[in-house]
Amino acid sequence: MNFDKNVTIKFSDDAFRRMDEAPDEKFYAIPRFTSHIDFGAIESVTELYRKYLPENSYILDLMSSFLSHFPADKCYSHVVGLGMNEREMANNKQLDEWVVHDLNDQPKLPFKNNFFDAGTICVSIDYLTDPVAVIKNMGRVLKKDAPLIITYSNRYFESKATAAWLSLSDEQRAYLIKSFLEETQCFGDIELMDCSPEMGDPLYAVIAKAI
Ligand SMILES: C[S@@+](CC[C@H](N)C(=O)[O-])C[C@H]1O[C@@H](n2cnc3c(N)ncnc32)[C@H](O)[C@@H]1O
Repeated sequence: MNFDKNVTIKFSDDAFRRMDEAPDEKFYAIPRFTSHIDFGAIESVTELYRKYLPENSYILDLMSSFLSHFPADKCYSHVVGLGMNEREMANNKQLDEWVVHDLNDQPKLPFKNNFFDAGTICVSIDYLTDPVAVIKNMGRVLKKDAPLIITYSNRYFESKATAAWLSLSDEQRAYLIKSFLEETQCFGDIELMDCSPEMGDPLYAVIAKAI
């Protein structure tokens, strides 16, 4: 897929409603020790991280769980996970620290300004009911020029994905994420990529740099 169009996706407030509007803590109470994309798609995520994440750096893995997909042969100083399930993150060997925090209840991130050298959001952006507020907060906690790597596939928990996400094609979803980033005015150098492996789950990425 080519992402060479100049498309901005407009979104109304009700675009972020979901079939399951119960508090997210209920849905994520039971740990899921499973991968949410297949091996080939995970390898694509790992390759992106290998290329874009600076070594010996502080990294925030937002919407984290049991696996973070960082390359095992690279060294990062400190990796912080933020997600909904304590047991998943406690069993994630790539996290040095983690915090349970519901971003749909409180989009403000519990971290200091200009703290992280890079941020990742893997196969999860579709669950945010106020993605612009959360990404804007990423802009606050990331240092200038820090990369934010947002990846997605075509698999998701349907009842928890937003109406906007469900209504769009895989291609349009990249432009939706780009529109979120632009709306925050905290990111530049936005790149849209199709990193899908030849077989299996597709994998798309939107990467930007904190301003
Ligand atoms: C499909 S999983 C992806 C997990 C992980 N990033 C990966 O690559 O395997 C979705 C993740 O989003 C997190 N999540 C969902 N809703 C959230 C919310 N309201 N606040 C914070 N994290 C949330 C969950 O904890 C879960 O780990």
